[in-house]
Amino acid sequence: MSATLAGVRIVVSAGPTYEDIDPARFLGNRSSGKMGFAIAAEAAARGADVVLVAGPVHLETPAGVARSNVRSAAQMHAAVLAALPCAVYIGAAAVADFTPRACSPGKIKKQPGQDTLVLELVQTRDILAEVAAHAQRPRLVVGFAAETDNVAGYARGKLERKRLDMICANRVGVAGCGFESDDNALLVIDATGERALGPAPKCELAGLLLDLIKERLA
Ligand code: CTP
Repeated sequence: MSATLAGVRIVVSAGPTYEDIDPARFLGNRSSGKMGFAIAAEAAARGADVVLVAGPVHLETPAGVARSNVRSAAQMHAAVLAALPCAVYIGAAAVADFTPRACSPGKIKKQPGQDTLVLELVQTRDILAEVAAHAQRPRLVVGFAAETDNVAGYARGKLERKRLDMICANRVGVAGCGFESDDNALLVIDATGERALGPAPKCELAGLLLDLIKERLA
């Protein structure tokens, strides 16, 4: 029997964000949203009261989950903060770190002879760090870190810098794991140490992660 989460309010972010350049183009990333949706589905199945803030993905809303659809990092920031207070925040979304300084109102046209285009990007607000520093801070703030190298080192840095309770690191750029895949492997790091989960289907990993979260809430 899996641990119950009856009555626990959990906010999960999932998917990519799209940062508009002009009415026809955007900057995005390769997040499928599958990990965040699997966590939301499993948490709801265990009785949690789940809000899923979803970036632009074509995935079905899991049973019993309240979904809020967003497009940009700024919209995701507003939707997540509006969903507080909660007991647990799980930031599984791949939020854009930078966004165009301004979205052009008209389609950007090539000029004769132009062979480069410079886009000015500004940093987005860090939703995870703001939730962790919020007056209504959830009891547990859980982040994700997608890394190509030095996975544990970079993830531990993010855990400390953003003042998180737990971070789930995964290696990207490896076939069969991470972005766009149905399977994943996570290295879950907290103040007490590290736990390797998987490789396993994302729905199974979601259950293992929620077991750890339930332990930390006890
Ligand atoms: N995150 C967030 N808001 C942002 C950027 C990231 O909430 N504006 C969250 C993500 O949801 C994820 C974690 O922060 O839980 C990822 O951390 P980040 O430092 O952004 O990782 P990377 O995008 O991999 O950035 P870096 O270039 O530092 O590796």
